[in-house]
Amino acid sequence: MTTRTSTPRHYLMCKPTFFEVSYEINPWMDVTRETSAELAVQQWEVLHQTFLDWGHTVELIDPIPGLPDMVYAANGATVVDGLVYSAKFRYPERAAEGPAYEKWFADHGYVTQTAEEVNEGEGDILMVGDVILGGSGFRTDPASHGELARLTGREVLTLELVNPHYYHLDTALTVLDSDPAHPLIAYYPPAFSPASLALLEERYPDAIIATDADAGHLGLNAVSDGRRIVVAPGALHFAEALRARGFEPHPVDTSELLKGGGGAKCCTLEIRR
Ligand code: ARG
Repeated sequence: MTTRTSTPRHYLMCKPTFFEVSYEINPWMDVTRETSAELAVQQWEVLHQTFLDWGHTVELIDPIPGLPDMVYAANGATVVDGLVYSAKFRYPERAAEGPAYEKWFADHGYVTQTAEEVNEGEGDILMVGDVILGGSGFRTDPASHGELARLTGREVLTLELVNPHYYHLDTALTVLDSDPAHPLIAYYPPAFSPASLALLEERYPDAIIATDADAGHLGLNAVSDGRRIVVAPGALHFAEALRARGFEPHPVDTSELLKGGGGAKCCTLEIRR
């Protein structure tokens, strides 16, 4: 079995102090369902502490009242090779998050590039080895993939999402190993258009294929450090498949944050120097 190696990570997170579901922009959100910011914070603290226990660096951005989705930090920007490409949100409810995250990076000495095209950060933009996978179909405009390719000089593969429950790429696809020598992903086939599925099969023939139940628990919204993986507790088949490939799955319950349509990965923005 392959020996997996974890590498130290640098993350940005946002505490869900003002968490609520006050609008509906994805099928998981239901404004009539009760939410608890207190429970969201408790679950988020466990996730935060897990990353710290694993030796990762976690920075925090202050939550802003009236921006309940700010907890989904992955959407706040994309950081590749130390360059910060700002988010430009599809829906007005989240629009103010783009400048808020960009300001955090600018204030912390990063070179930022304000996006011209609509994109929802690392929710739809995933780095696998030397390649960038770009989701589209619901939120991120494919034009932003071109913008990102020009800015980074990297290849960006566009993947079209077709199932509204899996509206961001990071709800349908997980990067398990980003080592350019042996990149590995997991994905949920029904979330993709036939052409994008063919592309995934061709590029990643050894990928883990998630089941309906894995995807339904938002199991693909997992965070890997190359060896240890935070995964939704309900994604049982996925956890087993991970173990079979030499990974260590660690269940962390983010059920309250699932009411907003996000899981562990959504709460984690990776800063790549
Ligand atoms: N309520 C948020 C939205 O619909 C959830 C974002 C989840 N984030 C993610 N990276 N998938 O925009």
